[in-house]
Amino acid sequence: MQAQRIKDLFSAIARYYDFLNALLSLKRDKMWRQETVKASDVKPTHKVLDVCTGTGELALAYSNKIGAEGFVIGSDFCFEMLVIGNQKLERHTSRRNTNFLTADTLILPFLDNTFDVVSVGFGIRNVSDLEMGIREMTRVAAPGGRVVILEFTQPVNPLFRSLYYFYFTKVLPFIGNLISRNKDDAYGYLPRSVMKFPNCDALKKVMEQCGLTDVHFQRKTLGIVAIHVGKKTK
Ligand SMILES: C[S@@+](CC[C@H](N)C(=O)[O-])C[C@H]1O[C@@H](n2cnc3c(N)ncnc32)[C@H](O)[C@@H]1O
Repeated sequence: MQAQRIKDLFSAIARYYDFLNALLSLKRDKMWRQETVKASDVKPTHKVLDVCTGTGELALAYSNKIGAEGFVIGSDFCFEMLVIGNQKLERHTSRRNTNFLTADTLILPFLDNTFDVVSVGFGIRNVSDLEMGIREMTRVAAPGGRVVILEFTQPVNPLFRSLYYFYFTKVLPFIGNLISRNKDDAYGYLPRSVMKFPNCDALKKVMEQCGLTDVHFQRKTLGIVAIHVGKKTK
């Protein structure tokens, strides 16, 4: 999908995004983000960039682990999603180490080799050029730093997959579009984009092509999502 349509889609559902994530994932989404932080091997002194941060849920999960010497930046090109993230920051004055800014993941406004962890949660699937997005994340990661991707994937077990696909392609879009009062089928876009997205092995290969090493992944919740981690060596 084109970048402007993606922006419009997320600005239309921004107010409902967190509530529907929790509802439609049966509150698994928070746990997936916690597991992503754990897989990143993040330290209190680290500098973290969370791209496609949306309402900032993954950035905020990192900020709990980062001390005064480190910081977290969440970036996204959809202003309305960032507004919700900023409201969360205002409610938590302890989150002084975290900031949000407007930026396109395909042209990040940071110098090469800056961040210890560059993460993305449920966002890289929406970036119009997957490889260019991962290359840009890799560019701003410091040598020795990690690029971490949390994304939906296709469950491996055929029986579970058919049950899950019924929920994912029929029930979820119906509830999502109804609650968010979305007439453009924003929640139908979710399963369509996941079906087109590379499977775990293919995504690993793309990360390697982008210069990352030691790329490994773990599936979570019967393979509904996967966390990929790669290292930038130089
Ligand atoms: C499904 S949301 C994910 C939000 C959040 N990371 C989470 O864990 O829930 C996808 C986000 O990616 C953003 N996005 C898509 N393409 C982008 C791009 N090229 N640059 C910046 N943000 C982008 C959208 O605006 C949206 O906020």
